Amino acid sequence: MKITDLFPSDLFAGRPVFVTGGGSGINLGIARTFAALGADVGICGRRTEVLAAAAEELGAFGHGVHTAVADVRDPEALQAALDGTAEKFGPIATLVCGAAGNFIARAENLSPNGFRTVVDIDLMGTFNATRAAFAQLKQTRGSLLYISASQADQAFAFQAHVGAAKAGIDALMRNLALEWGSYGIRCNAIAPGPIEGTEGMKRLGEVAGEDAWLSMVPLGRYGRTEEVGAMAAFLASPLAEYVTGARITVDGGQNLTGSTA
Ligand code: HXC
Repeated sequence: MKITDLFPSDLFAGRPVFVTGGGSGINLGIARTFAALGADVGICGRRTEVLAAAAEELGAFGHGVHTAVADVRDPEALQAALDGTAEKFGPIATLVCGAAGNFIARAENLSPNGFRTVVDIDLMGTFNATRAAFAQLKQTRGSLLYISASQADQAFAFQAHVGAAKAGIDALMRNLALEWGSYGIRCNAIAPGPIEGTEGMKRLGEVAGEDAWLSMVPLGRYGRTEEVGAMAAFLASPLAEYVTGARITVDGGQNLTGSTA
């Protein structure tokens, strides 16, 4: 089913969105969903060629696309990316913080810099983007969407650094929902499970093999990036006007089947 079979194709017209890490994977799926629903879209990432390919794809929906090379660990580059998006489209109504880094490592093999790198990209990057977008979101009474992961509340072997960073994202989301409710800013998180064709799945598949992952999913298949996009669209839409501080799992039931250790 296509998102436009259920939601109007102008749902986010005049409601720009910015997606960190929007050039690929789950984040591109989210950006695509918003573009299909009429949003002007800003994306940032580290690689020019990845952003250019994504921009071409997103532009096919017929709305504005702004790309900016920015590492989420660089607050100034992020601020410029958010400012550039607002200059083109007006203040954003939705910020999606999805940029993430991951590698497989036994906890005893993690160097301080290795641990810090993932925390810097995932948690600090989410904070940096939020900080850069705050004034715009306050103006639009917009919403924040954080991309968490199963690792935040479920133990996964060789993912100690990722679990710690993603749990921090969940905590930040809840605190901001509390503090910023009075500004009309809603803050929610999505925790995707195994989503096909993503860099994250490729890396995790190296541990136990992709078949092992599939056996953990009661629905018996991998998720699609558009299915995460659909949840993001719902949470950013007026249908979710009374939803804040929520963390919604989109994982085919994988969290019910225990840890991977
Ligand atoms: C141990 C490692 C390591 C490994 C890197 N490090 N890989 N340690 N085992 N396999 C250590 C390095 O030795 C170094 O520490 C530190 O981490 C920083 O490494 P750099 O390569 O210099 O960092 P950088 O170039 O900034 O790259 C960041 C990265 C990289 C996270 C390491 O993999 C990356 O850019 N990833 C982006 C794409 C990505 O990861 N996508 C997947 C996201 S999925 P020392 O001490 O040696 O200096 C996701 C959710 C998954 O996050 C959920 C699925 C269900």
